[in-house]
Amino acid sequence: MLKGKNLLCLLDFDRWDLQRLLDVSFSMKERVMTNEVPKTLDGKRIALFFEKPSTRTRVSSELAISMLGGTPIVLTKNDVQISRGEPVEDTARVLGRMVHGIGARVQKHDTLLKLAEYSGRPTINLLSDLSHPLQALTDFMTVKEVFGTLNKPIAFVGDGGDNVLVSLMAFVSKFGLELRVASPKEMRPRPDVWKRIEEEAELSDAVIEFYDDPYEAIRGVSVVYTDVWISMGQESEAQRRREVLSKYRVTEDLMRYTSADSIFLHCLPAIRGEEVEQSVIDGKKSRVWDQAENRLYTAMSAFSLIY
Ligand code: CP
Ligand code: NVA
Repeated sequence: MLKGKNLLCLLDFDRWDLQRLLDVSFSMKERVMTNEVPKTLDGKRIALFFEKPSTRTRVSSELAISMLGGTPIVLTKNDVQISRGEPVEDTARVLGRMVHGIGARVQKHDTLLKLAEYSGRPTINLLSDLSHPLQALTDFMTVKEVFGTLNKPIAFVGDGGDNVLVSLMAFVSKFGLELRVASPKEMRPRPDVWKRIEEEAELSDAVIEFYDDPYEAIRGVSVVYTDVWISMGQESEAQRRREVLSKYRVTEDLMRYTSADSIFLHCLPAIRGEEVEQSVIDGKKSRVWDQAENRLYTAMSAFSLIY
């Protein structure tokens, strides 16, 4: 059961809950197409708090809540008293008195834990420094849509400690899938989170392997995924990250070693010429716009199942 739960990390859910989130995403897509969206959030007020910029997540979450009949209240960091020093705990207490739930994009994952604890309301992670669960649900929805199955080998090329990657790993670990990560050795998920992923992978027979050489990682895979080299909040490390990641760019040459029907995914926003060549992201294997559209349906699924 998902109702009333926090959605902070995919590792907190079992496979059946994640499957339900995907199933409802597909049914929401159909219902949007046929103009039959259920008003499951009628009378519900949900605060959406953004400490960082957002296009896809902001639009998809706000629309999802409105389309389901609820009232979204978007708060960016500068709008609220947190910017003048009001503690997150106090903000959460106040929100808890006025809204039924919170979605939040935060600098530090710990802020999500505080929002959930002190508001007493179900809280959804809209991206933190640690993870991005709604993005990974969308990504696997897109894989299922393209191939008819989730069970296709994926290679992630780039930052091995990336927040989107952590959520992809969490999903893979629950479903017993295969994920190869091409990344510099010094870029790895947080050890405590990696330990949980490894434990889950052991139970499900998932294969998550790290490779130094992107050509080795990518051989024969069906899905190639990358994300920006410099995530929001990492700007001060930009130069070092560009140096360390320079051989982990998704190029057309790299794509030649994937399976014939392979696809390219990126959570977006992308920097053409940095983590991915322009001809790949704008090429015929790219599914990034379908993927971006699917953010709406996974947001509708998550908000309707949790609240
Ligand atoms: N993929 C994603 O979360 O995009 P935004 O930063 O635009 O929300
Ligand atoms: N890793 C990126 C994802 C953006 C959706 C970031 O955190 O900036």
